[in-house]
Amino acid sequence: MESGIDKAAALLRVSKRLTVLTGAGMSAESGVPTFRDPDGYWSRFNPAELATPAAFRLDPAKVWEWYRLRRAALRTVEPHDGHRILAAWEKAGRFHVDIITQNVDGLHHRAGAARVIELHGRLELARCTACAYRRDDLDDLGPDPRCPECSARLRPGVVWFGESLPEGAFDTAVECVSAADCLLVIGTSSLVYPAASLSEIAFARGVPTIEINPSDTPISDLVRVRIKRGCRETLLSLEAALAKS
Ligand code: OAD
Repeated sequence: MESGIDKAAALLRVSKRLTVLTGAGMSAESGVPTFRDPDGYWSRFNPAELATPAAFRLDPAKVWEWYRLRRAALRTVEPHDGHRILAAWEKAGRFHVDIITQNVDGLHHRAGAARVIELHGRLELARCTACAYRRDDLDDLGPDPRCPECSARLRPGVVWFGESLPEGAFDTAVECVSAADCLLVIGTSSLVYPAASLSEIAFARGVPTIEINPSDTPISDLVRVRIKRGCRETLLSLEAALAKS
């Protein structure tokens, strides 16, 4: 019987324009916790106290401290083979690759990927709550940092619950999915909108979709090919299958 890997490799072999949508499961094998798995962040912490504009207004130092700890945790992790394979596909030019990620850890960039749309911002970024000031060197940030240009409060450069995505990011993501001839959805619970609507756009437009996820998600029964395994071993298998063709 043809395996999920064979079916996915067959789609990738004829693809000219691949869009990849990643979530926390992509980083899990680098050692970054996901959000909704049993050992995920939202099993241990209350998102309403850490990842909303109201939480930040109430206690900015507490919110900054949480993001400082998450930045510190990033220093101990590295991109894995799966991140590197996606970056290598982009460079090899076999097909045009766009990566859309919900992850804020920068691991796709660190693996060498250039075309990455970060839908939820990034941990290594602070931005002013009042003006256009941003900084990405956050080493000596105090507990409640201020903008050097207008003295307003600085905030983490990530998207919180109830907020809009960074300007243009979602529109560009929709364009990538609409132009794609294959969508690869890796390691996302497909529960958080608007990111989750990108798969729905692919289904509506008939873009063949492959899901890589060891658990069931709302899109598992809707995708063309479902691979119920971890992302690292799956991408290694796909890479090996493509190398043969
Ligand atoms: P979730 O924690 O909701 O889902 C992670 C998914 O990864 C689950 O479906 C797991 O089954 C899957 N997974 C776990 N290990 C995996 C592996 N080794 N290989 C492949 N998949 C694996 O994370 P997201 O879907 O990314 O938003 O969550 C979306 C957003 O919700 C996040 O960006 C964050 C969060 O609240 C904000 O902070 C705005």
